Amino acid sequence: MENESQSGGNVAIIDLDIQDIEGVGPTTAKKLRDAGIISVMDLAVSSAEELSEGINATKETAASFIISAQKLLRETNVLDKEFITADTALQKRRSMLRCSTGSYALDDLLLGGIETQAMTEFYGEFGSGKSQICHTLCVIAKQPIETGGLDSGVIYIDTEGTFRPERVEQIARARGFDPTEILKNVAICKVYNSSHLELIVKDLGKYIDDFKAKLVIIDSIISLHRAEFSGRGTLADRQQRLNNMLHKLIRLAEIYNIAIVITNQVQSSPDTFFGDPTKATGGNVVGHASTYRIYLRKSGENRIAKIMDSPYHPYSDTRFTVTERGADDLEEQTTKKGSKKSRKNETDSDEEEV
Ligand code: GTP
Ligand code: MG
Repeated sequence: MENESQSGGNVAIIDLDIQDIEGVGPTTAKKLRDAGIISVMDLAVSSAEELSEGINATKETAASFIISAQKLLRETNVLDKEFITADTALQKRRSMLRCSTGSYALDDLLLGGIETQAMTEFYGEFGSGKSQICHTLCVIAKQPIETGGLDSGVIYIDTEGTFRPERVEQIARARGFDPTEILKNVAICKVYNSSHLELIVKDLGKYIDDFKAKLVIIDSIISLHRAEFSGRGTLADRQQRLNNMLHKLIRLAEIYNIAIVITNQVQSSPDTFFGDPTKATGGNVVGHASTYRIYLRKSGENRIAKIMDSPYHPYSDTRFTVTERGADDLEEQTTKKGSKKSRKNETDSDEEEV
């Protein structure tokens, strides 16, 4: 019942008008609209820096609008109260959904799949399977919740031009699903520069509603910022902009009960003498924002996934592979767990698999 306000909260959001916010009259409402802030929710998840620039006001004024918007959402029970008791927190966690990755082993590592209300980061070198996991998630997210999906649309933000609809089609078919339905359900946005990406993230709330998405994928989160801001002097600026964007994503994940998946590259750190001399790019900014970080590594034909950072997952690793079915289990894991056909996110299809 109460936890319906979490996922069903969108109904109330639609009913609210930006002028219902204390201190927002027609003039301010227009300024906000011109800056791309259409709804109370847009305002509530803005950051003071970005808003003050957008409406040409001081940071204090911007912050006071944001606080008023959040206050309104709380009063109408769209946002949780400032302090909630632990049992309510538990209830909120229970409205959390999980989406299978396509590999049982990887799902086990993640204690059941990728979570809503959280941001999961996959990072690793080229060819380690980051984009393949993202393509597989596009197929599985559409499946019913009882069978490991989210019964939802997907928003796929492609910054590297590596999204391939044919690959989604192939994965769907190999898993016995109708590719047409799945492809219709994935909204792709090809992003060309860092400002474009920031703009899309800023308006993401609207797209999440439009596409009924419970999964937002950004492949990759940092490549554009990394390419455009390379000098030392611009590093602080880059980190600040990334930070704003990532925090906005986390707020969206919590408020809309959606899963956010980001991918990230690695850079070599020559100062590491022991272990793997690679680490995720973006430094602490991305690391701190991600709820879960998974490091992917190639190991011959297979991949190793390792949980690097998580509030409650044990540090562990597992193996998976990439096949025509996308991210997948190794043969030996499949025989241990039962045949591929009996896996929970599969349906028997009349169509012959190719
Ligand atoms: P970058 O984006 O370059 O950093 O790498 P990535 O981690 O996103 O790599 P990606 O997920 O694209 O993995 C590429 C690898 O997946 C390839 O080297 C292949 O091993 C495998 N792969 C990609 N497509 C297919 C396919 O259709 N069938 C099979 N069996 N494997 C595939
Ligand atoms: Mg990739």
